[in-house]
Amino acid sequence: MQEQFHENGFLILENFYSQDECQSLMKRGQELAEGFDYTGHASIFQTTEQTKTSDEYFLNSGNKISFFFEKNAFDESGKLITDLFHSLNKIGHGMHDHDPVFDAFTRSPQLKKLAHELGLQDYLIIQSMLIFKHARIGGVVDIHQDATFLYTEPHSCIGFWFALEDATIENGCMWAKPGGHKTTLRSKFKRKAGGGTEMITLSEEPFTTEGMIPLEVKQGTCIVLDGLLPHYSMTNTSGKSRQAYAIHTIDKNKRYPEDNWLQRDMQFVKGF
Ligand code: FE2
Repeated sequence: MQEQFHENGFLILENFYSQDECQSLMKRGQELAEGFDYTGHASIFQTTEQTKTSDEYFLNSGNKISFFFEKNAFDESGKLITDLFHSLNKIGHGMHDHDPVFDAFTRSPQLKKLAHELGLQDYLIIQSMLIFKHARIGGVVDIHQDATFLYTEPHSCIGFWFALEDATIENGCMWAKPGGHKTTLRSKFKRKAGGGTEMITLSEEPFTTEGMIPLEVKQGTCIVLDGLLPHYSMTNTSGKSRQAYAIHTIDKNKRYPEDNWLQRDMQFVKGF
């Protein structure tokens, strides 16, 4: 398994979670979303928008349960076009440490076993995201490397992505190239000294979609992703949502710079 992961930069494990486990997590996500009082908190999550935002709500979301809207959720007068739940892009970035249902899913016996088998005993779960990718509104996620957002020296970021529903080309599954992680880190997303964020270019090498394949997977599948693997997903133009839960981990023995966008009090960040 380790060999395959190092060769391809990702690992696909089917039937990792049961249908019931996936349904329960989605149900809890919906409860959290419907309890969100969004008065004055219209935070939009779009990776392409991040360089433009100095949104404190986003920057402070690391150790909380925060809610991010789809880009097209509001009309010109600032009102939601559809109901609150179906307007949200995602919830993040600390629910694995603040919600018992998410904590249990994140620190399940099977995930502990997998982390052990991959040799990740020293890894910390630094962030979590529930990605809704709702039918017809779920937005594109531009090609990126996760290590851009969770930068360590040297690189150590590894993501675990769980399909809570079937992911297909139609509803916006992930795309990546086998072996695509054998490349350079293009950029790092950091906090600016005077507030806000900025993208720092580390390599001018352009991204290419050549060789990328759709990772169409069934509900309950776990995809382990190397933080250097370029990946993306398209808009969900279908009538079916594509919910996914993702956690990101880093090696506790690597340097985690103080200007990374995501700041946590490291003494409270735990492993599997
Ligand atoms: Fe990603």
